[in-house]
Amino acid sequence: MADQMEHFYRGIRGWFDCQAVYRWAVGTAQPGGVLVEVGAFLGRSTAFLGVEARNADKGLMIHVVDTWRGSREHQQDPAVLRGTLYQQFLMNMAPVRPIIVPVRKPSVEAAKGYKDKALQFVFIDGSHEQRDVEADLSAWLPKIRTGGAIAGHDIHLASVRAAIERVVAPLALRQLFLAPSCWAFDVR
Ligand SMILES: C[S@@+](CC[C@H](N)C(=O)[O-])C[C@H]1O[C@@H](n2cnc3c(N)ncnc32)[C@H](O)[C@@H]1O
Repeated sequence: MADQMEHFYRGIRGWFDCQAVYRWAVGTAQPGGVLVEVGAFLGRSTAFLGVEARNADKGLMIHVVDTWRGSREHQQDPAVLRGTLYQQFLMNMAPVRPIIVPVRKPSVEAAKGYKDKALQFVFIDGSHEQRDVEADLSAWLPKIRTGGAIAGHDIHLASVRAAIERVVAPLALRQLFLAPSCWAFDVR
């Protein structure tokens, strides 16, 4: 087993509180699997996932999808105003950079770059507008392999709940997590 790296995500500004979901995703991932995170901002959540994946030592890769332009609610954030969000993300990722693949595209466009059933796990934390969450769910669900999972943040938002109700509920997937603000379903 590789030397265990200490977590450093607490030093990165952001909104991450889905540690149990990420630990579960890494623990159940097939060796060599690809995990996708949609919405990284400065990389607080990515840093947690990166350390967990690295410490698991099973060849997992993390593809991180973001425009690094910020969501609507971030347009007055200093890093967005200065246009430094992506550079700051890359600097923050330095300790886990070898297993991180940044994909700097809008989420739905990025999903088109993956074959169906290619991914182990997708975590949705991009735009929280209902229409965008629905588009993200529809774009990424077919990309997840049987036995994988789709998950995300901010289930306390009515927009996110409504999108899940419209896109995921009809598939009758098993709900794996419903922590205070995180959700996850298995994919069959
Ligand atoms: C809430 S933040 C992510 C927070 C991060 N997971 C954390 O732990 O702090 C949302 C991110 O999604 C990105 N984003 C919003 N809409 C997007 C879209 N359609 N495609 C790709 N990225 C998007 C924004 O640029 C922003 O960085």
